Amino acid sequence: MQATKSQQTIRRDSGRRKGDFTSSTDGRMELAAELLDRIYDPIRDEMHQVGQNLKDLGRDQSPFLSQILDHVMDNTGKRLRPALALLASRFHPYDRHAVETMASAVELLHVAALVHDDFLDNSNIRRGRATIGSLWGRNAAVLVGDFVLATAAKLVCDTGDIRVMQLFAQATVQLSSGELHEMAGAYNWRQSREDYLQRIHDKTASLFATTGEAGAILSGAPEPITEALRDYGFNLGMAFQIVDDILDFDATREEMGKPVGNDLAQGIMTLPAIIAVERYPDDDSISRLFRKPGDDDRLDRAVALVQDSSVIEESYAVAGQFCETALERVAVLEENPARESLEELVTYLVNRRG
Ligand code: FPP
Ligand code: MG
Repeated sequence: MQATKSQQTIRRDSGRRKGDFTSSTDGRMELAAELLDRIYDPIRDEMHQVGQNLKDLGRDQSPFLSQILDHVMDNTGKRLRPALALLASRFHPYDRHAVETMASAVELLHVAALVHDDFLDNSNIRRGRATIGSLWGRNAAVLVGDFVLATAAKLVCDTGDIRVMQLFAQATVQLSSGELHEMAGAYNWRQSREDYLQRIHDKTASLFATTGEAGAILSGAPEPITEALRDYGFNLGMAFQIVDDILDFDATREEMGKPVGNDLAQGIMTLPAIIAVERYPDDDSISRLFRKPGDDDRLDRAVALVQDSSVIEESYAVAGQFCETALERVAVLEENPARESLEELVTYLVNRRG
């Protein structure tokens, strides 16, 4: 089979450090935004409607809830999940309203999970902006997270599709179990790649898989197409989380909107840290940090160990395998602008810096 344009890009890039959109941070961010804009081109109107749905969440609520929702919805990031739902619906004639509703719901589930995640991490900052907990108190964060989650569930019910409702419920269970798994393993530096992959499957890839599948189901696509889009979503989600975990060490605070090495500071072993322990079994920087969390010198040493370029390269290679599989799965779909966007999304995700 001939390699697609995106497959060639991934192979070409695999020998060097990813993320080099250009040499300056501003230039890189600008180019990344332009690329994402092009990827979203086939779904521009629908993305606008999803944005409107999210913005409207605070309407007709009490002033207290309304101002918190406005703050949260102003800061929802790249909206990758709604884009995936919309692109996945483009391989069969689709019901635009149902797909937009589902696209809004998956973004809301993601937002609810992040609001709760910030509560669990006691985090004051997300994407460079103050969290609900830091502005309105931690109790407000729990309740607003609940409100957003319940609203997402309500929207999924509005699609009227029982299979999609089941998938959404299952993804919510998996998100929670992934997060619990992460909590149970905190400050345990002896973790395997398998532990990690199962954890990110649950906490991240399950929602991407559900999103791809739900977009296809709501368009009425036949089963082989639906399966291909589910698999694409799963593999994209795995690669997305691995790159996120790499950037925790390899990007700047400015690019990520949070401190470098934040995961290790929280006692969380991600793929780069696991690979560093495998590669340097005699270096006890990470176990020393976990015995005395909060010690800045120990954190700096542990972060420096993981920032080793060969560790970062190997972590990117693992992400690259998931990217290759994602591209193989979309290769079975008909060639259209949505398929091109799904291919470019893979390249975007692996090269992003924030
Ligand atoms: C962010 O990952 C967190 C998640 C992807 C999942 C969070 C899930 C929960 C809190 C449980 C389920 C909650 C609901 C509402 C269903 P990260 O911590 O790696 O990313 P970060 O560094 O950006 O915080
Ligand atoms: Mg977190």
